[in-house]
Amino acid sequence: MDLLRITGDTPLTGTVTAGGSKNAALPIMAASILATEPVLIERVPEVVDVTTLSAVLAQLGVEVKRQDDGALRIETVDSSPTRADYELVRRMRASFCVLGPLLARRRRAVVSLPGGCNLGDRPVDLHLAGLAALGAKLRIDRGYVIAEADELRGADISLLGPHGATVTGTANVMSAATLARGTTIIRGAAREPEIVDLADFLNTLGARIVGAGEATIEIVGVEHLNGGTHRVIPDRIEAATLLIAGAITGGNVHVKNARLEHLGGVLDVLDRAGAELSVSANSVSILMQNRPRPIQVTTCPYPGVPTDVQPQLTALATIAEGRSEIVEGVFPDRFMHVPELKRLGARIERAGHAAVVDGLRRLVGAELMASDLRGGAALVLAALAAEGVSLVRRIYHVDRGHEQIERKLARLGAQIERCRDQQPAKVGSS
Ligand code: EPU
Repeated sequence: MDLLRITGDTPLTGTVTAGGSKNAALPIMAASILATEPVLIERVPEVVDVTTLSAVLAQLGVEVKRQDDGALRIETVDSSPTRADYELVRRMRASFCVLGPLLARRRRAVVSLPGGCNLGDRPVDLHLAGLAALGAKLRIDRGYVIAEADELRGADISLLGPHGATVTGTANVMSAATLARGTTIIRGAAREPEIVDLADFLNTLGARIVGAGEATIEIVGVEHLNGGTHRVIPDRIEAATLLIAGAITGGNVHVKNARLEHLGGVLDVLDRAGAELSVSANSVSILMQNRPRPIQVTTCPYPGVPTDVQPQLTALATIAEGRSEIVEGVFPDRFMHVPELKRLGARIERAGHAAVVDGLRRLVGAELMASDLRGGAALVLAALAAEGVSLVRRIYHVDRGHEQIERKLARLGAQIERCRDQQPAKVGSS
């Protein structure tokens, strides 16, 4: 296992480029099962979750190859397998996105339930209800969802759950509905840019989807989907994380490939925290001259502040000049990073689904352990701000969604290196 060794308290400066969106690429890769011809997907990030989904697809007779130009070429070479095993699905919940496409294209899908997760309870009831409304017969047997349908039929479906819309649930049902007979209306659909990107991809293959990005999506079923080429949108969460890296270190960072229209909620928070932002359509610069002002944040579905940036904003709040309140509105228990941030000296109290953070002038380096992707990224950011050396262990969580995080941060002047965990580095002031 790798760890990151970080010597903090250096302002980051320079230019860095965000990669392609992991959370757009994964459902798009899964939806490639629907195509009758090869598809080419550009700007898919080289992250562990993409490798995991490639293994799931291989199990399903779908070949995923990275070409010399970096694009992924995806082609079904055997359309008989229908089973995605627990061994792979448990590693990454997004594997569940193969359920809808498999069912629609092969009429049968046997997909492991994803199981537990470090963000708290994450049911898939809405995915299943949506597919059942399309006419699928579903049952759960020994931890697997078994879904069958000779034919899917268009339906009027609500996908709204207790915490708002479901992103991958919308992806699953929208993908399946492309091949259903008749028209499907999805109400309470997720409005995230990743859903718009999936709809754009499916429409490129010949699907007839309108309204993606709105709460109501209409899908007119077609006989089959062809091949095609699609370029994945830039990763708004990675862009936000890099901007917060600039803010937390009192630096001056220019992030290219950051789409302003996707970052509104986060930029508002950074603006209120006192950052000087300059924006263009495809890049954002951040300059932080003083300690951040305290922030009041409630995460919610798009276009609000994303839950996937909550841990990083909590890290920023640890050095703010006063008391911040961070309310988690999507995954109420997503606070695994809080005890680790406290190891750096941060003063944080949990209050139900919120964290109350009393900012300090200085964090002090310590040994830390990542327990999920975004929480791990938050630890890296906090370590960049902390005085002295920190070790962030179990960095594989961060590798699931960040392409070369230490290289990008090093390019901005961060003192950061990847080490094998069996060679523990000395911890303390450097
Ligand atoms: N929910 C239900 N029933 C369902 C599905 C979801 O009640 O059937 C609830 C969830 O428990 C949660 C809320 O609905 O309270 C929203 O969950 P959602 O289904 O939207 O989450 P997801 O689709 O499983 C995606 C991202 C997550 C991101 C969330 C929220 C991908 C592959 N994953 O997950 O990304 O946090 O949307 O925006 O797109 C990450 O990248 O680190 C990550 C966790």
